[in-house]
Amino acid sequence: LTQIERGEPIKDTARVLSRYCDVLAIRTFKQSTIEEYARWASIPVINALTDLEHPCQSLADFFTIREEFGSFDNIVLTFIGDGNNVANSLIIFSAIFGVKIRILCPKGFEPSPAILTRARDIRKNFDLIVTDDFNIALKDANVLYTDVWSSMGQEKEKANKDNIFKGFTVDENIIRKIADNAIIMHCLPAYRGKEITDEVIECANSKIFNQAENRLHAQQALLYFLLN
Ligand code: NVA
Repeated sequence: LTQIERGEPIKDTARVLSRYCDVLAIRTFKQSTIEEYARWASIPVINALTDLEHPCQSLADFFTIREEFGSFDNIVLTFIGDGNNVANSLIIFSAIFGVKIRILCPKGFEPSPAILTRARDIRKNFDLIVTDDFNIALKDANVLYTDVWSSMGQEKEKANKDNIFKGFTVDENIIRKIADNAIIMHCLPAYRGKEITDEVIECANSKIFNQAENRLHAQQALLYFLLN
């Protein structure tokens, strides 16, 4: 793929790969890159992560939630941390499946406004709260989700963000504020001791490794769906 590196236009790469492959899964930074591939490819293009969205992760996450609770009724999903790609996709999926979602983030790190608008267009009266108030965000939460504070490509901002996000660590204190049967989720890889403690990852409520396994099943299902 050195031709991509040296700047071959996406419209060329997309059409060549379309003649070699059945499906393209692309993990990149800019959402516009993947949209350009989708525009020119004649085969399905899967968003395997961009700065804006991480839909394949959400597919596995919602599968995991459904597996744990049996349905999406009365699920309150609280995401703590950066309003990033993972948070954005959880919002879209919550709108699709009728899950109540709270995003608990420091001021200035809210999810994308375009995503919020899209989600509200998907579902009228969508139950979505974006807040920096822990009591509001944790009220009735039965799914508690976190992700890294600095995503891939944000390495330079790490020191600064670690400072700003102090207090947003999913730790024993936070766990005490949620229902006994609430589940803990993280898309991995995690920075233990930063966004989540070692104890919480290892606690009985943590479904993090079921969630990791479900990436395999969900992505196989997606491929099956696209290729049949
Ligand atoms: N928000 C993270 C997710 C990693 C699976 C990132 O983009 O790096």
